[in-house]
Amino acid sequence: GKVAVLMGGTSAERDVSLKSGRAVLTALLNQEVDAIGIDTGVGSLLEKLTENSYDHVFIALHGRGGEDGTVQGLLEQLGLPYTGSGVLGSALAMDKYRTKLVWEGLGLPTPPCVLLTEKTDFNNVVTKLGLPLMVKPASEGSSVGMSKVNDVVEIQQAYELAKQFDQVVIAEKYISGVEYTASIVQNQSLPIIRLETPRVFYDYEAKYSDNTQTRYICPSGLAPDQETTLQQLALQAFLAVGATGWGRVDLMCDATGQAWLLEVNTVPGMTDHSLVPMAAKAAGIDFDNLVLQILAST
Ligand code: DAL
Ligand code: MG
Repeated sequence: GKVAVLMGGTSAERDVSLKSGRAVLTALLNQEVDAIGIDTGVGSLLEKLTENSYDHVFIALHGRGGEDGTVQGLLEQLGLPYTGSGVLGSALAMDKYRTKLVWEGLGLPTPPCVLLTEKTDFNNVVTKLGLPLMVKPASEGSSVGMSKVNDVVEIQQAYELAKQFDQVVIAEKYISGVEYTASIVQNQSLPIIRLETPRVFYDYEAKYSDNTQTRYICPSGLAPDQETTLQQLALQAFLAVGATGWGRVDLMCDATGQAWLLEVNTVPGMTDHSLVPMAAKAAGIDFDNLVLQILAST
């Protein structure tokens, strides 16, 4: 059947999505799958989806208006099978604040956080979360609009930056430790990747620039039982928000070895810098095969 690869969109992660989408499209064409790329950032998506008859949709959209359940809802209405999470899982995972509420409700470990508003007394935030702390738009990806704050007087500026990207802004306790990511494909955990960046945190530059000396270490170097613990925690966290199929769960481990869940990405990056393809490779799955496996679970 014919596959539409949705890419681009209008979110702050448009450029990343175009790269992911082109890589996915190339992989499908390599495997002689009849596929077409659609940039959802221009024109009417409904018209584009109905002017051709597609059998499957591969969603390579990152951020709001694509990863957040809205496109998934349209595809449900059109009866078109699509990759990845459904409406609920997509919408919930896009919202870091409400994701954390669900995890907290289940007793899953996630750093404490508070909502920031115009009225928030930032001194109270520091009393509750300590310093440094992270300020994040609740519904962004690729670290867009995020800051690490070292002093209470820096919170205002960090809040204003985050506010440019989302109405909802959170402050989150900073976990000092090592960042890991757990990739999930066909509802199974792939090998964990450890991230090391010389930057202040694993920000947009660290993610997408070639010259930041960020290191991606896979196998992770974790002891086998710790690796399994993180994989199981990540899968539990993924399923808890109603996510399904494939995705990536980001987490931190502190100095005591305690893991802290940060977020779920329901359409993680598929660029040549991206993490899910790296984890798949470590499991013996090449990029073309990875794309086919994700497509197979529509
Ligand atoms: N939000 C980016 C695309 C990622 O998680 O890989
Ligand atoms: Mg994300």
